[in-house]
Amino acid sequence: MNWDFPRGIAHRGGGSLAPENTLAGIRLAAELGCRAVEFDVMLSGDGTPVLIHDETLERTTSGRGRVAETSDAELARLDAGGWHSARYAGEPLPTFADAAELCQALGLRANVEIKPSSGAEAETGRKVAGLARELWQGAVPPLLSSFSVEALAAAAAAAPELPRGWLVDAPPADWPKRLHRLEAVSLHCSRRHFGRRLLEEARQAGAPLLVYTVNDAEDALQLLHSGVAGLFSDRIDLLAGWGA
Ligand code: G3P
Ligand code: MG
Repeated sequence: MNWDFPRGIAHRGGGSLAPENTLAGIRLAAELGCRAVEFDVMLSGDGTPVLIHDETLERTTSGRGRVAETSDAELARLDAGGWHSARYAGEPLPTFADAAELCQALGLRANVEIKPSSGAEAETGRKVAGLARELWQGAVPPLLSSFSVEALAAAAAAAPELPRGWLVDAPPADWPKRLHRLEAVSLHCSRRHFGRRLLEEARQAGAPLLVYTVNDAEDALQLLHSGVAGLFSDRIDLLAGWGA
């Protein structure tokens, strides 16, 4: 297939150099020459898609409790940067709409990981895909991805024209068949489960294989040289050097 997504993708926006899933992180990725960012999107208690990785607020914000039970007004009061470093204290928890606007303003390609809280798989897939369609109207669309096949199916129903990647930890033996059934364009697998056989299966299936999370420069270059289509990395300071 004609795969034009950049090969180096800033993991969670800022990788390890800025707080994950924040606008500051996305800005830093662009400043460092990254051409694509990945970020995680979950629904708030009000059903608004926002950027966050965990189902709970404790690790990456000043808040407590479940994202899915927290209102937009409460989320807007949180500090999503202070946990990382004093420099980023006060950084807000962004909405998906804010992140989409920023990516387009900075000329960054986006991989939107649909990260449903448990029980909200279909609703999250549907809402994120529907909103992505609106937010990137007339622009190069984002690549949607998810570990949740239910979320991917809902995204496909809501906005079939948006490309989708299937995220897995260890790919099941019949992954090419399942990828085809999901109408997904790419397989995104963990570095721990990458191997030559998987690469050969991907080549035979005509499916770009992306690998997460690769933070070692030598490893990254070897993977790209072997035919891996893209890498997610926290080392956003190195990504630009790994080629477009
Ligand atoms: O999309 C690649 C990677 O982000 C998947 O894992 O847990 O960092 O969202 P995670
Ligand atoms: Mg992710």
